[in-house]
Amino acid sequence: MTERALATGVVRTRAELREALASAARPLGLVPTMGWLHEGHRALMRRARTDNATTIVTIFVNPRQFNDPADYTRYPRNEARDLEICGEEGVDIVFAPPVEEVYPEGFQTTVSLGPIADPLEGAARPGHFAGVATVVAILFDLVGAERAYFGQKDGQQVMVIRRMALDLAIPTEVIACPTVREPDGLALSSRNVHLTPGQRAAAPVLHRALLAGRARWTSGERSAETIREAMWATLNEEPLAAPEYVSVADAETLRELDVVEGPALLSMAVRFGDTRLIDNEPVP
Ligand code: PAF
Repeated sequence: MTERALATGVVRTRAELREALASAARPLGLVPTMGWLHEGHRALMRRARTDNATTIVTIFVNPRQFNDPADYTRYPRNEARDLEICGEEGVDIVFAPPVEEVYPEGFQTTVSLGPIADPLEGAARPGHFAGVATVVAILFDLVGAERAYFGQKDGQQVMVIRRMALDLAIPTEVIACPTVREPDGLALSSRNVHLTPGQRAAAPVLHRALLAGRARWTSGERSAETIREAMWATLNEEPLAAPEYVSVADAETLRELDVVEGPALLSMAVRFGDTRLIDNEPVP
């Protein structure tokens, strides 16, 4: 399928977006992305189409959420392929703006977040969530969707965005969709394309480690440290994996736990060479 298969087509400016939205049937479902679309994004689009009369996908590699400029430069991009995928999935509108359309000259505002953005990815990537929250606030405002869809793989991101929308009284409902995985358990991510064949073969260790932690919890273990140790032990079996953090945190606050008494989020970040992967698993 081609770009022409999109019901309304690609819009690049705020004015074009406004025009496309003026005649769009409601409710409107938004899928914000940075492109290099994969099965995980397709699942978000399908869910958005099921729930809404109009589906809009945004494709924008947001420079403000990359704490490492090299990471921004090497982020994979293929807009032609992305538009084909949007066409195949029956997306109605694609908003693919240039940087200056999102951040016009003189732009100087950043969303300042609370403690939910401090640990885990927030600690590992200073400024990342402020960049995410700022662009998502802009997109929520420009699109005015009833619902927006995000992957649970970026679990902390979903929590940060939900908090931001609530606190800023943005009436877009934030919906988290299950992580889509390869058959060997690797969570789909645009970054997987950077893995060498050896690293790709090693990368499912994240999911195995999360399952090892979850299995401890299922068998009755409630010491967070013992569950963390089980995850570390699995990661340490894989020589190509360089873990950054392993976490057993409260599912509401993301504070590290001593004892798992209520809902918790097991999560981790692991480097394979220059490629950094994250994954998580909720318990129960
Ligand atoms: O998850 C992503 O792809 C990005 O962080 C998002 C939400 C599109 C904001 O740039």
